[in-house]
Amino acid sequence: MKITGKNTQLRTVEISDAKFIVQLRTQSEKTQFLSQVENNLAKQHAWLQAYKHKELNGEEYYFVIESKTGEELGLVRVYDLQTDSFCWGSWLIKDGAPQSTAIESALLIYEFGFGQLAYKKAHFDVRKGNDRVIAFHQRFGARIVNEDDLNYYFNYTLEDYLMIKQKYRRYLN
Ligand SMILES: CC(C)(COP(=O)(O)OP(=O)(O)OC[C@H]1O[C@@H](n2cnc3c(N)ncnc32)[C@H](O)[C@@H]1OP(=O)(O)O)[C@@H](O)C(=O)NCCC(=O)NCCS
Repeated sequence: MKITGKNTQLRTVEISDAKFIVQLRTQSEKTQFLSQVENNLAKQHAWLQAYKHKELNGEEYYFVIESKTGEELGLVRVYDLQTDSFCWGSWLIKDGAPQSTAIESALLIYEFGFGQLAYKKAHFDVRKGNDRVIAFHQRFGARIVNEDDLNYYFNYTLEDYLMIKQKYRRYLN
């Protein structure tokens, strides 16, 4: 599956992406606020095999963020699909990716969740201290609805997204 934007696209991961995923997820300075992934290609293969079943069942979607020419730029995941809200996260962009990759990939995730999956709400959590990402979501109009020692919990609605989509339409096409 592929979701295409202006300079960026999301395509569902394949087993053959295991190496890219392990490389990116074991870069310590970028993954401080993400759960730990082992530097073990066989384990990643097995994880991706299990994931592909979930994707087939429509339970979870894991994407490689790519340039339009197919250069791998990062990763992002849609999971915890509740009746009325989808969750996204595991968002990671490699150093040196074009500056618009973050905005474009976030817009494409919302196009997917609110458009293709037809949800009216989204939720996600961000670790306390991950200030850059907290600011990113707040600029998109997301609201903190809860917190605990570890995380802030955000909600985002289709209405929030439609306003942002209008504002950032130049990043979509
Ligand atoms: C999360 C992540 C993918 C976000 O990507 P990012 O490139 O850091 O995102 P930024 O907030 O810096 O946004 C990219 C650019 O768009 C700009 N931008 C972001 N939101 C914007 C907005 N709403 N309007 C205008 N410009 C905006 C930023 O200012 C930045 O520009 P700059 O490089 O000139 O400063 C990246 O930081 C990452 O890989 N982090 C490590 C993993 C992680 O913590 N993931 C999140 C887990 S919840």
